[in-house]
Amino acid sequence: MLKIASPGRVNLIGEHTDYSLGYVMPMAINLYTFLEGEKASLVEIYSENLKSKKSFYLQNLKRENDWSDYIKGIFWILLKHNHNLQGLRGKIYGNLPIGSGLSSSASLELAVLEFLNLKYKLKLSKMEEAILAKEAENEFVGVPCGVMDQMAVTLGKRGYAIFIDTENLYYEYVPFPKLYILIFDTGVRRELANSEYAKRRKIVEKTLNELGMKSSKYAELKNLNKLQELQRRFLGYIIRENQRVVEARDALKNENLQEFGNIITEAHWDLAKNYGVSSPELDFFVKNALKYGALGARLTGAGFGGSAFAIFTEEPSKIGDEILKVYKRIFPHNARYFVVSSSDGVRECVH
Ligand code: GLA
Repeated sequence: MLKIASPGRVNLIGEHTDYSLGYVMPMAINLYTFLEGEKASLVEIYSENLKSKKSFYLQNLKRENDWSDYIKGIFWILLKHNHNLQGLRGKIYGNLPIGSGLSSSASLELAVLEFLNLKYKLKLSKMEEAILAKEAENEFVGVPCGVMDQMAVTLGKRGYAIFIDTENLYYEYVPFPKLYILIFDTGVRRELANSEYAKRRKIVEKTLNELGMKSSKYAELKNLNKLQELQRRFLGYIIRENQRVVEARDALKNENLQEFGNIITEAHWDLAKNYGVSSPELDFFVKNALKYGALGARLTGAGFGGSAFAIFTEEPSKIGDEILKVYKRIFPHNARYFVVSSSDGVRECVH
């Protein structure tokens, strides 16, 4: 029996910058998808959280628009790249909330990929795993995501955030100080928002194309003048966000925690006002976390619901309880919070 632990991630800063090949700085967190299983000739898998069982053959991988697509996608991409493998029989479970903007999809994909990598001796590096999982999500599942989530899940390292240049995949571990991270899951699922995500991606790609640039890293404020209103707003946000990722990395390196907090809060309001991906629920959390003394707070992931996080110097469970209580009086959603810390990336679990 092989057991894999695959973390989720919080993106500290660099939101909606990976699909224009800019900078990001995520961190793997100690909420996990676990996969436990054995080799088999077909795929037979049970999700304890969803109470659902799926089985399929490798010869017949069809998208069904449900959770099994992420698993099929991994088999599909490995077969496409001519890897020699068979199936698996097992179960998945864990404490990483599904569809809450904490990369439950990438976490599931990479649990499966790491399982197959070890069981079938595919000899894939962490970087190859991240790229394959992203391709599976883009080409099989049909979500036009960037590479941030997959890299955070594979390359995660306890005690560190990961600064990534998504154009050349250069990455650097940045020590993350002993701060508490309060994650607030608004209880608003973000599936509905996929089309809004794709819309932004399209506009940004078109804009960079018109400017003759491969990556948003090369765009400057002076390039904005000739653009149409929406293009100017979106690219303006991305230019500032790329800059903030570099500044946030340096603030962490210099242990300037209040400055790091200020940068992430500024990023939230820029995302909300100019990129249009926040929501009243996310804004509510950010405002309240700051009121209770957070160094900084912002939405994380694609937005439109999902999760936000705040950083504190003291253990923030009481603050989480307080915010949740008031939130539930205003919003009718099944919200919850987690106090998390950094984690290693996807790996075999030995105990
Ligand atoms: C989702 C995508 C990522 C990234 C974020 C926004 O999490 O999967 O690739 O684009 O949204 O920063």
